[in-house]
Amino acid sequence: MNKMEKNNSNLTNRKFYIHTFGCQMNENDSEHIAGILASAGAELSYSAEESDIIIINTCAVREKSVEKFYSLLGRLACFKKKKNIIIGVIGCVSQLYRSKILDKNPHVDFIIGPDNYWKMPQIFSRLSSEKVISTQWNHKWHEIPCTQSLRKSHYSAYVTIMEGCNNFCTYCVVPFTRGREKCRPIQNILREMRYLSEKGYKEIYLLGQDVNSYVAPDSGETFCDLLKKADKIEEIGWIRFISSHPKYFTPEIAIVISEGNNICHQIHLPVQSGSSSILRKMNRGYTRDEYLEKIDVIHKLIPDVALSTDIIVGFPEETEEDFNETLSLLKTVRYTNIFSFRYSPRPLTAASKIRDSVPLREKRGRLVELQTFQRNLQLEINKSFIGKSMKVLCLGKSKKDPNIYSGRNEGNQVVNFKSKKDVRGKFIDVSITGYGPYSLQGKLNDIT
Ligand code: 5AD
Ligand code: SF4
Repeated sequence: MNKMEKNNSNLTNRKFYIHTFGCQMNENDSEHIAGILASAGAELSYSAEESDIIIINTCAVREKSVEKFYSLLGRLACFKKKKNIIIGVIGCVSQLYRSKILDKNPHVDFIIGPDNYWKMPQIFSRLSSEKVISTQWNHKWHEIPCTQSLRKSHYSAYVTIMEGCNNFCTYCVVPFTRGREKCRPIQNILREMRYLSEKGYKEIYLLGQDVNSYVAPDSGETFCDLLKKADKIEEIGWIRFISSHPKYFTPEIAIVISEGNNICHQIHLPVQSGSSSILRKMNRGYTRDEYLEKIDVIHKLIPDVALSTDIIVGFPEETEEDFNETLSLLKTVRYTNIFSFRYSPRPLTAASKIRDSVPLREKRGRLVELQTFQRNLQLEINKSFIGKSMKVLCLGKSKKDPNIYSGRNEGNQVVNFKSKKDVRGKFIDVSITGYGPYSLQGKLNDIT
């Protein structure tokens, strides 16, 4: 940024606070935005009360997170009466509702959609005279310099490789908030990974709505090509990726993972439902059997793989039988972790126009039943780790007890253990001595 821009952006010596709702991509965007604002002279704060600028990075995927956002925005109206602050709304809800947010919330100063974050300093320079709405679509990738990002973790980092989605699953609002797929040039991805490895990062998550559709805009290289090149970057211990679409998950990807040095034997493969009839209504592009065949191939090629998934219960017209098929799929696959949601109708989506025959009480009941079922499976799976030793990346320390540390194993399961030494950011060897449904407990063996 040149000096003129810096002086004109009204950001020097101002404190900003970012509240982030939603997925890892939103987390990553907030880290980039924090970097952009800090480079323009502002200071990141972790206290909303002490800040002059409050930015809310919103998520539109489910109704609940939109409600939480509006409730926070309402509370900020009172706060603004007491203190002259700037309030900005960014992210997926901004893109979806645009000026409507301003109509109902005159205390908001700017609205920015996910394609426009790089314009932030110019937007700030206009705020003294006007409110700004910036939600134009970009059809090409717009690079934000990775060196600016203020990342939360010093050991594990997100690297976005593509954004947007062309799949139009009938329940999902993302194609309307993040737009069509845009892939990042492969050189920029690899440059960011190298930069992070030099900074000492040990784990990288390659991010995108549908990472296995990645095609490099400059060279035409595929997701497999990217994984192979990323795997050659020394010093990055673990590479993970989220999210994959089962429709595009090929045996080649599993081969690259199995032959790689640093690519974790862990795959998040969102199935959404175990019923072929519901999958068709969701426009997922695969049947139950086709999904299970892919899981079989993955198991053959990567026998020690850890699998996780996303499930939606109570999709319109989901019968008790459909739901039971989802439970039976969980039993067959034996995921180490799942993310499960009650269906929530979203604006502009095809499913929101289907008459929903499943009562709310039933949807709630199915979610509890599914989570209890999976909890019991995870207890069984986690019990089988007792006595085994495994590599863990230590990511943090307990706030309550300074001798208790927490990390993740290659399968992305939480592992807690005691240590007298500070082992954050280190790969360590842990023997598993205890387990719960959502985490393992262990004893530290060795520091590598
Ligand atoms: N209702 C409930 N869950 C949803 N998801 C996406 N859209 C909806 C919706 N309308 C879930 C899917 C997706 C995850 C990110 O959020 O499981 O994989
Ligand atoms: Fe949404 Fe489906 Fe695209 Fe995932 S693949 S972002 S669920 S439309």
